Amino acid sequence: MTDARPIRVETHGRVGLITLHRPQQLNALNDALMDALGAALQAFDADPGIGAIVITGSDKAFAAGADIDAMQDWSYMDVYQSDFITRNWETIRTIRKPVIAAVAGYAMGGGCELALACDVIVAAESARFALPEIKLAMLPGAGGTQRLPRAVGKAKAMDMCLSARMLDAQEADRYGLVSRVVPDAELLERTLALATQIASFSLPALMAIKESVNRAWESSLTEGILFERRALHARFASADAHEGMHAFLDKRKPAFEHR
Ligand code: HXC
Repeated sequence: MTDARPIRVETHGRVGLITLHRPQQLNALNDALMDALGAALQAFDADPGIGAIVITGSDKAFAAGADIDAMQDWSYMDVYQSDFITRNWETIRTIRKPVIAAVAGYAMGGGCELALACDVIVAAESARFALPEIKLAMLPGAGGTQRLPRAVGKAKAMDMCLSARMLDAQEADRYGLVSRVVPDAELLERTLALATQIASFSLPALMAIKESVNRAWESSLTEGILFERRALHARFASADAHEGMHAFLDKRKPAFEHR
């Protein structure tokens, strides 16, 4: 019997791992998958034993996009009234812990947009990134027209959105779309090692850094710097920050309590 669950969820120490699992459809992102992904992200975000979250797909596809089969006959009123995309794809925007995408194979359309919504993208050599919605007379409407130019600049973003140009992993790395590139055989191991390292740090400090970096996209430099400065000042109210500085001076490993 085939397993119809669209995601798999595991924990590796303080890391939550979510694997997209619709192999017959190259992980095309339908509502069942996006609802399950949102619920899993929220559960890990609420779990004090988790410090970082990894989202991955298969060797062939991180995700080949929104599910075209599901969308083909929807009307404007269907998507407007049900708030398509916002209703479940945007759950990831509310997650406060670091989220890392581990991408092998195709990250197309909504799959590329899902990766872009993560905080860090680790790409295997086989990773391919494209926003090919124009071929369907559609639009990269899960954040693609907004996050891609912020990540790679207008010139590269326009090229990708208007021509459906596909980037390989090395190009994506050069353009700043991904954080690092690793051999395919090492993708999960290296991403879990990165997530484990991140999760070993003080969770409230990680959350403050994520919030502060994201603010750089949303505000003027003056406002962003002020936000950052207040976040820095708040670190002095944290037991972990004092522990971190004392441990450094004592030449010992810090014992963070995530407080
Ligand atoms: C539904 C999909 C799919 C998708 C692939 N499949 N992508 N089903 N939605 N996005 C299905 C195929 O129909 C096929 O089903 C099976 O997965 C395997 O795909 P193939 O095309 O046979 O594989 P391959 O030849 O290796 O080509 C891989 C591919 C190609 C290059 C990734 O599948 C492709 O171009 N997919 C569509 C990519 C795309 O346009 N993405 C953007 C979607 S729109 P069967 O039943 O035939 O085996 C989008 C909008 C987001 O993401 C913004 C909000 C709207």
